[in-house]
Amino acid sequence: MNLKFFLGCVFLAGCFSEGQCTTACQTMDDFKNPSKPPCWNNPYGDMSAAEILESWGNYVEKRHIIVGSGYNLTLIKTHTSGISPSKTVIFMPGIMMDTKGFLVTGDKSYGYAFSKAGYAIWLLSYRGVGESRKHIKYSDTSCDFWSFSLDDLVNEDVKDTINYVVKESNRKVTLLGYSMGTTLSTMYAAGYPDDAAKNLNGIVMMGPAIYLNNTPSIAWTLHDFWPIVKTVPQLISHCEVSLKTLSPSNPNPTYQSIMTQVTMQSLFFGFNNDGIDPTTITASLTQNPSSTSVKLLDQFINIMKSKKLVKYSEEISIFPFIQLEQTYELKNIKVSIAMFSGPNDYLCTATNSKEAYDDINPTFQCGYYLISDTSFTHADFVRGKDIPTVLLPNVLEKVDLFSEGKCS
Ligand SMILES: *[C@@H]1O[C@H](CO)[C@@H](O)[C@H](O)[C@H]1NC(C)=O
Repeated sequence: MNLKFFLGCVFLAGCFSEGQCTTACQTMDDFKNPSKPPCWNNPYGDMSAAEILESWGNYVEKRHIIVGSGYNLTLIKTHTSGISPSKTVIFMPGIMMDTKGFLVTGDKSYGYAFSKAGYAIWLLSYRGVGESRKHIKYSDTSCDFWSFSLDDLVNEDVKDTINYVVKESNRKVTLLGYSMGTTLSTMYAAGYPDDAAKNLNGIVMMGPAIYLNNTPSIAWTLHDFWPIVKTVPQLISHCEVSLKTLSPSNPNPTYQSIMTQVTMQSLFFGFNNDGIDPTTITASLTQNPSSTSVKLLDQFINIMKSKKLVKYSEEISIFPFIQLEQTYELKNIKVSIAMFSGPNDYLCTATNSKEAYDDINPTFQCGYYLISDTSFTHADFVRGKDIPTVLLPNVLEKVDLFSEGKCS
């Protein structure tokens, strides 16, 4: 074995055992220079969520729950080893996002921060995501499997998980949602107000996806084409819409491939190349992407058009304000809500979030916060380099307050 190879191995082994990597690329320019000793730009390679957590020395336990219609969901429970946590948080990821998105930025991640703060964390993988691609009857390569709406996630995945975790923990829990995680928690709180009041201390929302109309996001520009676009996944990928197919498959992608991916995301989420963290960007780009269903996106299109949290209907409404739809009413919510918005979030704009916040009963309005960094985008909530300074401490403080039964 040559010495260089041997040292390389020691290097990488060091990275893994530390749970973070001191040799990660420090600047974006490092990615451009192939002659440099390659900086190890993806500290977690293809590790699973449990492996990442274990690399921090966390206690990790997996649970499988079968929800109503037969989906077999994987929940991960974790906390710092050797402690007995007195507060519980459930992480609710965004659309087409693996729960690893809360972990792959290592010591800058939500998973790490909440573990260190003494929380019991439950990571929820919705059906179709990460390790939750199992059903008692259907294979994940059939349209039968990929036939679910937001309502189905609320009525089964979210509701059953919350009941399960509350029973296991024997106390109320707090939800920390990002993007679609906030849509689902809002629908749960509005659709099951009494259950929510009984089970939850509150919901902390990052990049709230409640009202989604009139945004600078390309999602808004293109949403009218969805009825045409959706025939592609219906025909070629068993109704599964996967971000994985668009993201770099190499765990150590090139500079070009990183920037192409970032630019595509920016069209949806907002542009902020200064917000990229070179030490974790490849981990985020390669490990976070996951899947969802055509049907769920149908429902999101109707939510966009109507500016209401409408329930699923087969028809995509062409004339948004004419059709009478069943909706989740924000005024029904009876749990504490706090929201964090990014000033440069194209998809879940600060304006739309504030409007949603104002539609909640004032008793349960426990804080609307505009992030101080004016360039903060929707993507920056999961992979922005400034999360540890401009967001994490405030989010942690809010979840702490909710866990103590306080509002603000
Ligand atoms: C659910 O999935 C887990 C993990 O693959 C498996 O061990 C378990 O038997 C499954 N449960 C059912 C009822 O299929």
